[in-house]
Amino acid sequence: DASPSDRIAALLTSFPDCPEPGVVFRDLAGVYAEPGLLAQLAGHVTRHLGAGFDRILAVESRGFVLGSALAVLAGVPLTLARKPGKLPGPVYEAAYDLEYGSDRLELQKGAIAPGERVLCVDDVLATGGTLSAAAALVEAGGAEVAGLAVVVALAGLGGRERLSGHPLLALHEVTDAK
Ligand code: PRP
Ligand code: MG
Repeated sequence: DASPSDRIAALLTSFPDCPEPGVVFRDLAGVYAEPGLLAQLAGHVTRHLGAGFDRILAVESRGFVLGSALAVLAGVPLTLARKPGKLPGPVYEAAYDLEYGSDRLELQKGAIAPGERVLCVDDVLATGGTLSAAAALVEAGGAEVAGLAVVVALAGLGGRERLSGHPLLALHEVTDAK
């Protein structure tokens, strides 16, 4: 059988200068549309991480896809880190700079139990701003970042370096990301 990385490579498409000049949009639509592939990807992550996490924190919005699949497969609670103003009640906030623009993520206070080992999940790692904000939210809640899981990691944008304090599992690496 083809490896997860090979299957992703065959289905991943790139749109240069999207959404703005100098940025390459990595489109995972074909990956998600491939029957059985999302399950294979989630299976790969759970086999690698075993029982090493107690909860999934999935990042809005594209992180919800792999995050949901992982929560179902691993049988662990799913929590959503959301864009500003979406969550009711008291929230922790973490701001970050994006490849294009800046943004903020929020997590409901009390959504993660202190001491839990939380796996942060997103679709793409670029500069690492988004996942570093997710990790900051986990730590704000008194929990531990068990690791970071992404479908695709883009090399050359500093993401791995920025997140070097946490174990990162990337199902596919794009090395010509610049
Ligand atoms: C994209 C992507 C990752 C992030 C990666 O999300 O889905 O979350 O950028 O970039 P970074 O490593 O430089 O932070 P985007 O903010 O475009 O929002 P979306 O997921 O809601 O589409
Ligand atoms: Mg995103």
